[in-house]
Formats: sequence, C-alpha cells, structure tokens
Amino acid sequence: MDIKFYLKEKKYLVDRFLESYFANPINPKTLNDSIVYSLSAGGKRIRPILCLAAYEACGGKAEDIVSYASALELIHTYSLIHDDLPAMDDDDLRRGKPTNHKVFGEGMAILAGDALLTEAFYLLSSESQSSNRMPQSVILKVIHEISRASGMHGMVGGQAQDLLSENVEPDAETLTFVHNHKTAALITVSVRTGGMLSGCSENALYLLTKYGANIGLAFQIVDDILDVEGETEVIGKPKGSDEEKKKLTYPRLYGLEKSRERAGELVEHAIGSLADFDERAEPLRAIARYLIERKE
Ligand code: IPE
Ligand code: IPE
Ligand code: MG
Ligand code: MG
Ligand code: MG
Repeated sequence: MDIKFYLKEKKYLVDRFLESYFANPINPKTLNDSIVYSLSAGGKRIRPILCLAAYEACGGKAEDIVSYASALELIHTYSLIHDDLPAMDDDDLRRGKPTNHKVFGEGMAILAGDALLTEAFYLLSSESQSSNRMPQSVILKVIHEISRASGMHGMVGGQAQDLLSENVEPDAETLTFVHNHKTAALITVSVRTGGMLSGCSENALYLLTKYGANIGLAFQIVDDILDVEGETEVIGKPKGSDEEKKKLTYPRLYGLEKSRERAGELVEHAIGSLADFDERAEPLRAIARYLIERKE
C-alpha cells in the first residue's frame, strides 16, 4: 500500500475539520490567533490518523469519526506549546515556525494550551460535531481514557519526570517511565479510541493496545534519534535541544545504534500484535513501519 498517500489523505480530513471548527474566531482575537497559529502550523497529525486507521481496521469508515480523532490533535498541540515554554524545554522553533510563546508571549501561549486541552473534551462531548452518533456510554469511556492518558497518570506525569530527569545520571527504568508516559500514553489511547468507537471486541482492543504501546515507545525513541541526527529544516524544531538540556533520552543512555535497533524491535512487535487482523489493518502496519523510517 502507498502509506504516503494514505497519510496525506487522512491528514487532509483532520486539517479540514480543524479549519472549519476554528473558522469563527472567538474573543479575544489574540487568544484565537495564538490557538490557530500552532494548530495550522503543520504537524503530521499522527495521533488522529492512528485513531482513524484503528477504526478502519475494525471495519469502520474514517469519515464518521473525524471529530473524535481531531480532539486528540488538540491535546497534542497543547502539549507541544507548553513543552516549548522557557520553563520547560525552552525551544524557539516548532513545526518550522517560531514557537507560540515567541510570537504571542508566554502568558498567551500558556492560555492557548489550556484552551486547546479543555476544548478537546468539549468537542468529544459535543454530539452535534459527529457525523456518526455514538452511544453515550462509548463516548464517556473514550473521554475517561483520553483524560487519564493525558493527565497526571499519563502525559503530564511523563513530562514532569522528564523535567526532573534533566542533568541527572541516566537510568533505564526512569527513561522507560518518561517515554511511556509523555508520549506512548497518548499514542496508545489514540489507537484505542478508534477501537472503542468501532465497538470492537475486548480481544481486538487488547491487541490494538499492544500495537499502540509498542509504536508509542518507538515513536519517542525515533524522536530522540532525530534530535541528534535529523535536519532542523526537516524536523521543524531545533536539532540538539535534548543534548543542550541534558535530557534523559535513548541515544544518551544506549547510543544511536542500539536505539535504532530497539525502535525496530518495538515496531516488529507492534506489527506482530495485528496478526489476527485482516487487510483492513494494513494502514496500521504501514504506519508502524513508516514511524521508524521517518525523517520528520
Ligand atoms: C512531537 O510529536 C512530540 C513528541 C511527543 C515526540 P510529533 O512528531 O507528532 O509532532 P508533530 O505533531 O508532527 O509536529
Ligand atoms: C515531548 O517530548 C513530549 C510531549 C508530550 C510534548 P520532546 O520534548 O522530546 O518533544 P519535542 O522533541 O520537543 O517535539
Ligand atoms: Mg520535552
Ligand atoms: Mg521538547
Ligand atoms: Mg524530542
């Protein structure tokens, strides 16, 4: 299958949805501009695409759940705006553009992040936004899981440990904790959301979870590798940021070669978990392979 085409097609669905969702500016306009600036700066839209691909793997039609999938991108974009703040990674470039706080100031960047996070749950709970009316019990479960994966038990917990681990002796257990929480948690729940919305079996959901957890960790390992050997123009963020901050990363603890190997193994495991799925899971398999070959 042509994975580049698949990613482009699904990214288009998400981009169009986000564009129309934010088409009517709210007041104050500066907050609106700050939100739209980061959301429309680009981005691969991997989390919503994984949600759509999991839904398709379970027999659904991607177009029916674009609003739910896009909510994941709001949470992700908020996490990037806050991640770049001077009090966190202190980075100046994101998605190939000056970071949100560089353009709008720290206060507005913090608020744009707050707004995006909250709006995600407003969107998830807005029936009118969905082209496919889901049972309320399913929506509640989705909200329950996404909030857990995003907050103190998931991404925020990982981000906190990431900050606490700057400039300290690297250790394997903490590194796995950081990566599983700051990145793999949201990726796993993105895949699970597609499965839950499709009404798939408990077993299918279990297999999708294994897939998500494995590619989630691989995704952050590759992100660490690209911070060392990627091109700033291609990754759209400053190369060497982790080294500068003495971050706890895979290359720091294991070196580049071992890190690449580990990412490869995780992707093989992820694909292995999908053995019982038919050809409708081909995009999920192809995304897993793409994630370790990516340059951006
Ligand atoms: C970057 O995520 C932050 C991580 C969790 C590694 P992405 O690589 O998905 O960033 P965008 O959305 O494409 O900009
Ligand atoms: C980010 O990890 C994880 C998030 C939850 C945003 P990084 O700090 O490595 O992400 P980048 O490299 O800045 O995108
Ligand atoms: Mg960070
Ligand atoms: Mg960062
Ligand atoms: Mg990084």
